[in-house]
Amino acid sequence: MKDVPFTLELNAPDFIPSQYDKHIRRTLSAMKGQYSDQESYACLLAKEDSLLYEVYEVTRPELAGELLQGISIVHPGQVGDEYFMTKGHFHTVLDTAEVYICQKGQGVMVMETPEGDWAVEPLYPGCVLYVPPRWAHRSVNTSPDEDLVTFFVYPGNAGHDYGAIEEQGFRKLVVERNGQPTIIDNPRWSAPEVEK
Ligand code: PA5
Ligand code: NI
Repeated sequence: MKDVPFTLELNAPDFIPSQYDKHIRRTLSAMKGQYSDQESYACLLAKEDSLLYEVYEVTRPELAGELLQGISIVHPGQVGDEYFMTKGHFHTVLDTAEVYICQKGQGVMVMETPEGDWAVEPLYPGCVLYVPPRWAHRSVNTSPDEDLVTFFVYPGNAGHDYGAIEEQGFRKLVVERNGQPTIIDNPRWSAPEVEK
């Protein structure tokens, strides 16, 4: 890999980077156990393994001094009353942060720490969201008809740790209630044991 400066373009309407190395596509079948309405999940999956989100990554060496960047596109839709969303993860190197810049759409970032603190921040065009070190993060598209497009950048050594989230999900779910995105408790979530 050449270590020379380079420029990318993110152009409307889809904001796919003008150059990228990896295109990841995640479909419904990759989200087994993540949606609380398991019946709706099974029903939808039986019809079609729909595309939920895509990630375009610019590869760099996975080193602390590097920055990894790309575009995440969460398509609109719902499983039951829960919106389409990313799997979500902690960084394997927990003490690494991430910045998201929303290019298009409407949504929220659901976040939590290993201790059970939680936060939900809005995502809208032009907003810059800082995810501090130690906070797991998941993007949720709350629009009925538009893609949620975000640019992200994080340290090269961060890594993705999906394990804890795959086990019990995030503490909070984002569902549609009376036509509005609403934050509710995840019944599957249990508080971490506090060491004495
Ligand atoms: O590192 C990030 O936070 C992003 O690049 C995400 O990986 C991307 O948004 C897809 O989400 P996930 O990795 O949780 O499937
Ligand atoms: Ni991340």
